[in-house]
Amino acid sequence: MTAKIIDGKAFAATIREKVAGHVARLKEEHGITPGLAVVLVGEDPASQVYVRSKGKQTVEVGMNSFEHKLDADTSEADLLALIDTLNKDDSVHGILVQLPLPKHLDEDLVINSISPEKDVDGFHISNVGLLGTGQKSMVPCTPLGSLMMLRDHHGSLSGMNAVVIGRSNIVGKPMAQLLLGDSCTVTIAHSRTKDLAEVVRRADIVVAAVGRPEMVPGDWIKEGATVIDVGINRIERDGKNVLVGDVDFASAKEVAGAITPVPGGVGPMTIACLLANTVTACCRSNDLSEPEGLTA
Ligand code: GUN
Repeated sequence: MTAKIIDGKAFAATIREKVAGHVARLKEEHGITPGLAVVLVGEDPASQVYVRSKGKQTVEVGMNSFEHKLDADTSEADLLALIDTLNKDDSVHGILVQLPLPKHLDEDLVINSISPEKDVDGFHISNVGLLGTGQKSMVPCTPLGSLMMLRDHHGSLSGMNAVVIGRSNIVGKPMAQLLLGDSCTVTIAHSRTKDLAEVVRRADIVVAAVGRPEMVPGDWIKEGATVIDVGINRIERDGKNVLVGDVDFASAKEVAGAITPVPGGVGPMTIACLLANTVTACCRSNDLSEPEGLTA
C-alpha cells in the first residue's frame, strides 16, 4: 500500500479562507475586527520566524495584529503588566506569549496570567481543565489542527485505537483528550514506554509528537493506519539542512493508509488554527454564534 499524503498546506488554506469569511462578516455586520496580540521576549531565532509568520497571516485574513517585542532581560513584573493591559484591551481578542521564555521567567505563572477567554494557545490551566472535562474551551492549535485532519480523512473516529507518542502539555496531552472526546481508545506512549513498537503496531491512528528525528520506522506502523507526524526536526543529510518529522516518512508511507508529510503537514495547520481560535474567542467575547468547523 502507498499512503494517501494528507496535504496540510492545502487544508490550512481552506481554514484561512473560512476564517477570512468570518472576519469579513464580523466587520460588516457588527463593526468588530478580531485582534491577536503576540508577545515575544528575547531573540530566539526560531521564535522570531514563527512570530513574523503569525503576524503576516493574521493581517492576511483581515484581523488586527499587535506585536510586542520585549528585551530578553525583561522582568517578570513588566511582562505581567503588559499581559494585564492586553487582558483589559477590548480590541485584543487573543493573546499569545511565544514559548520558550527566557529562563528567569516563570512560564506557568505567565501563561496563567492571560485571561482564559483570550488564551488562544489553550495553555491556561482553566482551558486545560475545561478540555479535560469535555467542556467548551480554547483548544491548543497543533492538536486542533491534527484533529481536523483526522476528522476530514475518517469522518467518525469512534472506536478507533489511537496512540499518541509524547506527553507534552502543548501537544501530547491535549491531543489525547481530543481523541478521547471523539471516542477513540487512547494510549499515551513516551520515552519510558515498554515495547513501544508493539504499542504503535496496535494503532489505527498514530500521532507522533516526541521531537526525535525519524524515530518511528515504517515497520512499527499497522497496515492502513493513519499517521499524523507533529515533529519538525532540522537535520543535516547529504551535506544539506533538511526538515524531517518524528516518523521515517519513506518507509511509513509504504504501509500507512494516510500520512502527513514534513514539511507541509501539521505545521501549516498550527497557525491556521491560531487564527481560527482568535475568531472563536472574538465571537464568544461578543456573545455571537461561533463559526462552525473551526473548533473541536
Ligand atoms: N512555541 C512553539 N510552539 C508554540 C505554540 O504553539 N505556542 C506558543 N505560545 N509558543 C510556542
